[in-house]
Amino acid sequence: MSIATHLRILTAMAQNTSPQNEDTNMNCHVDSTVLSRRAPMDGASFRSIMRSMVAGVTVVTTEHEGSPHGMTATAFSSVSADPAMVLIVLNRSTRTHPLVMASGHFVINLLSESQIGLGQRFAGKLDNQFDGVPYRLTERGAPVLEGVAASLECETVREIDMGTHTIFVGQVVSGHGSDALPLIYHEGSYKAVSTLDILAE
Ligand SMILES: Cc1cc2nc3c(=O)[nH]c(=O)nc-3n(C[C@H](O)[C@H](O)[C@H](O)COP(=O)(O)O)c2cc1C
Repeated sequence: MSIATHLRILTAMAQNTSPQNEDTNMNCHVDSTVLSRRAPMDGASFRSIMRSMVAGVTVVTTEHEGSPHGMTATAFSSVSADPAMVLIVLNRSTRTHPLVMASGHFVINLLSESQIGLGQRFAGKLDNQFDGVPYRLTERGAPVLEGVAASLECETVREIDMGTHTIFVGQVVSGHGSDALPLIYHEGSYKAVSTLDILAE
């Protein structure tokens, strides 16, 4: 099969055009293979360049069989406003990955600049992740952390495997924003945003 044909098939899969999913809008687990005529950049160079990128720090939370779970994640993006959709990218080696896959829902908690401790906490492998952490539960039982700059509650509508990770596309069903300044991550460090003065000419 030619690469072009293979790509057309993968695109159709990624667009979720199977009759079952057209009818039900249920989750679709797409197992995609990255195909390109050119070899990918080596991982070390890629990681080095990615350190220059700036990202908001989130804690992605979910709930499965009565237990809440969360992990620090910067791989988050808005996808569409109408319908409201976002995506997160989770390594399949994380504990969170199978839980999000099983639950079909997640909350993106954008940390505020005073919440570095939560960023560090949820990047670790604690068993008692939520001890002493104030939060409320959504209707479906996923934690919304108190004091976050913003939160988005999502229902998973697509799952796409890419390399070592899975892209979870979520339809946003509720959320909140605030004036709190967000925590950001840059060059391997947690940082705060600052407003630049516009110099008068
Ligand atoms: C600033 C920061 C951002 C991270 N972003 C992601 C991410 O977007 N996706 C991911 O899979 N892991 C990410 N990680 C790594 C996870 O937080 C880490 O593997 C965590 O231990 C996973 O927890 P779990 O095994 O309980 O799910 C990030 C870590 C840090 C410190």
